[in-house]
Amino acid sequence: MRIKKLRKVLRVLSLSAYQNFELQNITNPLKTIGILTSGGDSPGMNAAIRAVVRTASAVGFKVIAFRHGYKGLIAGDSTPLGSSDVSNIIQRGGTILKSARCEEFRTPEGREKAAQVLEDKGIEALIVIGGDGTFQGASLIGKEHDISVVGIPATIDNDLVGSDETIGYDTALNTAMDAIDNIRDTADAHDRLFLVEVMGRDAGFIALETGIAGGAELILLPESLTNVKEVKNSLNDVLYDKRRSSLVVVAEGDETGGALKLSEKLRADFSKYEMRVCILGHVQRGGRPSARDRVLASRLGEAAIRALKDGHSQVMVGIVNNSMKITPLKMTFGKKKDINFELVELAKTLR
Ligand code: F6P
Repeated sequence: MRIKKLRKVLRVLSLSAYQNFELQNITNPLKTIGILTSGGDSPGMNAAIRAVVRTASAVGFKVIAFRHGYKGLIAGDSTPLGSSDVSNIIQRGGTILKSARCEEFRTPEGREKAAQVLEDKGIEALIVIGGDGTFQGASLIGKEHDISVVGIPATIDNDLVGSDETIGYDTALNTAMDAIDNIRDTADAHDRLFLVEVMGRDAGFIALETGIAGGAELILLPESLTNVKEVKNSLNDVLYDKRRSSLVVVAEGDETGGALKLSEKLRADFSKYEMRVCILGHVQRGGRPSARDRVLASRLGEAAIRALKDGHSQVMVGIVNNSMKITPLKMTFGKKKDINFELVELAKTLR
């Protein structure tokens, strides 16, 4: 027992000695890095900004932040960020740097302007926090202008290859689940059929997990073909069972076109039931990040600086099976991330 404890202490000591050594003995020539958040915001982006800035300060990098994503980068809308500037933000949703979707950055001319801004400000590398659109842009500017770029995956949709979870996903799941629980109460009180639409333009991660967590009778995902006739049959089975209320979770990107369109297709067949549609929408994007998202964001923020310090470029940092993983940026958005089909089967068994 004693030996076990001693070994543990030695392990911890050697790990922190290694980390201190790593942080203090830097020979990397990088001095100034840029940071921005882009695309749809997600809870935990602030925690990631904080981790980047504080780790950068520990290794001696200066950080310049751009407001409003690529829009601000093109416009040169920037401010230096130091450790004290990121105090008291770990618990806040949204992003202190603001975000935007930027059409101009999709053009070579827009990226040329952005590259010029980086050069003028002496910025040698860029950390981008966002989702697939953000990474596509980052990959292009990196390639065209030979700029080191590291991506931190942050989107509630969880649809990036290279990380089991993206920042904001866990919080969004819990927000949607709480809403579904509330809807369940009123559905039950009125014996109603509810179609609840959750976000996920191209991916069903939120729908699948909130559907299971909320005990949905049916979950409709973009990853599996939705046949309206089968939906009707399944609902019939459930409704003509002993149950009087029922809840269907529909991913925004499901091929039925979402909950509203689906309700139009179902209404005639279920006239006996009162049907209601609830689209949860952007409520899922806001709110205080969960503990899990704050820890994930802190780990990935630190990893992004380490990646730059180690000379990585055009990569995304992620966590796979609880270990840090570095994936080429272009692999993260080109491929579709698989949902867990075991969970799909589980949902069918439990409905
Ligand atoms: O952040 C991703 C996402 O939430 C998608 O699921 C959704 O379709 C989209 O953003 C909507 O974003 P916006 O209204 O900001 O364009």
